[in-house]
Amino acid sequence: MQLTESTPAPRSLRIHVLRHNPQDPQSHPHMQTFNIEEADGMTLFIALNEIRETQDPALQFDFVCRAGICGSCGMLINGRPGLACRTLTKDLDADIYLAPLPLFELIGDLSVDTGKWMRGMSERLETWIHTQQDEPDLDALEARMEPELAQNIYELERCIECGCCIAACGTARMREEFVGAVGLNKIARFRLDPRDARSDAAFYELIGNENGVFGCMSLLGCEDICPKDLPLSTQLAFIRRKMAFIH
Ligand code: SF4
Ligand code: F3S
Ligand code: FES
Repeated sequence: MQLTESTPAPRSLRIHVLRHNPQDPQSHPHMQTFNIEEADGMTLFIALNEIRETQDPALQFDFVCRAGICGSCGMLINGRPGLACRTLTKDLDADIYLAPLPLFELIGDLSVDTGKWMRGMSERLETWIHTQQDEPDLDALEARMEPELAQNIYELERCIECGCCIAACGTARMREEFVGAVGLNKIARFRLDPRDARSDAAFYELIGNENGVFGCMSLLGCEDICPKDLPLSTQLAFIRRKMAFIH
């Protein structure tokens, strides 16, 4: 960049990364600092790529979409779960501390296996449409859905399974099988869907326990942190009210 008297010099960033490779018996968790020059519009995705390209090709982190859609770049950014591809360095101090999301299996450095956790939760909650027919008629036209209902389902479907709400949840730290806001949101989503033949009682059977809605202590870290701004506390309150009528 050409500097003029009115152009401030770019900041020097110090990016401190928690490094560890659990596959390597010699590895021990430690912080490593990388110095880079900030560029206009730089996100943590861009910064980490620059570090990998110019300083350490072994640095591990995950990105796919770079647009807040795939959910793979969740990490602790200055101690707070967030998406690295949606975080601008200009919004952070020059010292930036990055660590992997807690509670998920560590693959290495900033890369964690959220997919394994999400699959386990999805299997426990059966997060797929249960139709009445054993053999769905694939030639039948799909039933019409009111736009407002489709919109309400879509609103909950915006979850990208990034894992940030789990990393931010105190209950998830105490209960390994707690399904968290992401799981409770999924139950709310399938319950709304008229194609799912399960009764309210069947839905609430899945989450009417300490690993479901009774484990939630309304800490609301999930709602504070959700990068898709999902209405998680509203869903939790709704589920609680419904359960009061069922039990
Ligand atoms: Fe991420 Fe929000 Fe979905 Fe949790 S509910 S996994 S924070 S998008
Ligand atoms: Fe956890 Fe959110 Fe409940 S942070 S305790 S799931 S309100
Ligand atoms: Fe896809 Fe960040 S890279 S959400």
